[in-house]
Amino acid sequence: MTDNQLTLRKPRILVGATGSVATIKLDLLCQQLSVFAEVIEYLCDNDEWQSWQKRGDPVLHIELRKWADIFLIAPLDANTLSKFAHGLCDNLLTSVFRAWDFSNSHKIVILAPAMNTYMWDNPLTSKCLEKLQKQFKYSKIHIIWPISKQLMCKDVGVGAMEEVPKIVQAVHSQWQKCLKDNDNNNDIDTKTTAMRASQIRILVASLVLFSFCCISLRNKR
Ligand SMILES: Cc1cc2nc3c(=O)[nH]c(=O)nc-3n(C[C@H](O)[C@H](O)[C@H](O)COP(=O)(O)O)c2cc1C
Repeated sequence: MTDNQLTLRKPRILVGATGSVATIKLDLLCQQLSVFAEVIEYLCDNDEWQSWQKRGDPVLHIELRKWADIFLIAPLDANTLSKFAHGLCDNLLTSVFRAWDFSNSHKIVILAPAMNTYMWDNPLTSKCLEKLQKQFKYSKIHIIWPISKQLMCKDVGVGAMEEVPKIVQAVHSQWQKCLKDNDNNNDIDTKTTAMRASQIRILVASLVLFSFCCISLRNKR
């Protein structure tokens, strides 16, 4: 399916989850995303090697990367955030991220970090986020900022994963924005093609006119 047919199908969302207690919200998250999207969840590192037998067989992290329009990592823990920022890819999830097509504006990555406030406030966290920001620009990686509340360990502070409905809303609006940008680009392409066609027509007409003038001048002499 081509880029200008994106509106004809549901967005394909690959949901990645890392080692945070916020994974208890995964079922609810996928359930709510499924209302408007095709969703893949519940794959793990073993699936990567079990699905590959011989040369020519599909490699799971590459297939997932090709399939997905949106890669949502919710919750994203401090460990995997650091791996992303430093290019490590030692499991299925980090391999998909490492193989992701950041040059394609229709491929969206959305991160929903979740960690204890002490981890969140550690300067390494903002360093990793800044590194990703610089590398891929925020238009390609969207952050759903963690919120402040009583955490699972009973500490109170920033670091809890955003509430599920807000994550779903953010994913939905990023997809709508992507479709709108796609439409605008198609409009621009159509206008550019039409403009080029009329420029060519004017050029051909001018050439015909010029040749006609040359011939009449020569005949007069
Ligand atoms: C009960 C429990 C809860 C945890 N919650 C978090 C969390 O919310 N955020 C985080 O960054 N790490 C958390 N950790 C630590 C990560 O699970 C640990 O860094 C792990 O190595 C992450 O591996 P992964 O990134 O490959 O999933 C938690 C660990 C435990 C035992």
